[in-house]
Amino acid sequence: MANSNGYTAEIMRVYRGTCIHSTQHTAVEILEDALLGVDVKGKIAFIEKDSELDGLSEKFGFSPSEITQLAQHEFFMPGMVDTHIHASQYSYAGTALDMPLMQWLCTYTFPVESRFKDLEFAQRVYTKVVKRTLRNGTTTACYHATIHTDATLLLGQIANDLGQRALVGKVCMDRNNPAKYYKETCQESQEETCRFIAELLDKKYPLVKPVVTPRFAPTCTGALLGQLGAIAKNNNLHIQSHISENAEEIKLVKDLFPESKSYTDVYHKHNLLTDKTVMAHGCHLTDEELTLFRETGTSLSHCPNSNISLCSGVLNVRNVLNHKVKLGLGTDVAGGYSASILDALRRALDSSKILTIQDPGHETLTFEEAFRIATLGGSQALSLDDQTGNFEVGKDFDALRVNVTAPGGPIDLIQSDGPKVALNLFNHIYSQMNKSDDRNIVEVFVAGRKVVPFTEPKPE
Ligand code: GUN
Ligand code: FE
Repeated sequence: MANSNGYTAEIMRVYRGTCIHSTQHTAVEILEDALLGVDVKGKIAFIEKDSELDGLSEKFGFSPSEITQLAQHEFFMPGMVDTHIHASQYSYAGTALDMPLMQWLCTYTFPVESRFKDLEFAQRVYTKVVKRTLRNGTTTACYHATIHTDATLLLGQIANDLGQRALVGKVCMDRNNPAKYYKETCQESQEETCRFIAELLDKKYPLVKPVVTPRFAPTCTGALLGQLGAIAKNNNLHIQSHISENAEEIKLVKDLFPESKSYTDVYHKHNLLTDKTVMAHGCHLTDEELTLFRETGTSLSHCPNSNISLCSGVLNVRNVLNHKVKLGLGTDVAGGYSASILDALRRALDSSKILTIQDPGHETLTFEEAFRIATLGGSQALSLDDQTGNFEVGKDFDALRVNVTAPGGPIDLIQSDGPKVALNLFNHIYSQMNKSDDRNIVEVFVAGRKVVPFTEPKPE
């Protein structure tokens, strides 16, 4: 059946149940008894009230008997977006959180990352991190890998094979790293970045893209930053890095780039701030720097678990939102010890409450706002909001089927006597999100394909 564009949406699946998502205007919209149709390309063909069933089944040519009904305590929400995660650091996540950033990098991170020249080790770690994040409901991830091109290409292949939407970055760093065994020259970094981009694009993975990845200003010469800015510009690519995470780092950048007005200005001067750039942390950015973020369309990845675990700082999310800077959540594994955006969501709320404790005049982040930042906000931060982030018609069906009463899960329903109590009350959904863990996420879809539970390849 043709719609107004003359496009024929052949329907693959239709669901009936509660759908919860964010829109530009409403932080949390709850659609009860919704009908959601997914077409054969994995896109959302319609999302309408159940009362529209007759018209929809005629228009799209499906039979009501084919509808998949969500159970009483289930709902769909958009897949979550991890806007900043180090795939390689998953190998030591949950350990080594006893030092501030710069010492932590030299003591733990660089030695571990240097191991990824071993492709067998890379394959093991990268398979685990993609599977784990998918199970945790991360349908889109923006990954830092390591300086090794071939291992980073492998990460792209693994994300593609397991069905995760991903931006994948080969890390670039050509100075100031005491770990001599884990450093490139400026020329190697530039050439290998070009090789990485060409080979990844050559694979034509539908959901995996390269992202230009200067690690951060302290480990990159101005020459390298400039070359990476040019590569991103010439190929219209995404860019990711770190900024203004802790005080010692900021001081170092001031010493290394005395001609720049600010940390943000260092990246700006090298053409690294674009509407496809995401910068992690930004805990200590000034209002002037945030204004430059907004003017250039650069977004921030808020990584509250990491910021507290490494004692880096507390991002004032309210101030970022007031500056209209695009904002997503990041786990920043392994600075953050959890590979779950649900954890990041809770910690973003905790961090905001800490600011309110310190200043009762501070306007605390609401749960609804945090939910939006974890989903739609993340997709905007990665400039992927034309494809994912909520349940708008035409976007890919990236979704989590959440079962509040999943076996073995952590939720004891108390007010569950009425037939729909668990799904009717927003407060209840709030508490479900606060208490739920990956056991409550019973199915995960990316571009309409069910990627969790995993289906292992059939033996020959
Ligand atoms: N800044 C530069 N590299 C890193 C990293 O690996 N983790 C964190 N948290 N900050 C960084
Ligand atoms: Fe990081």
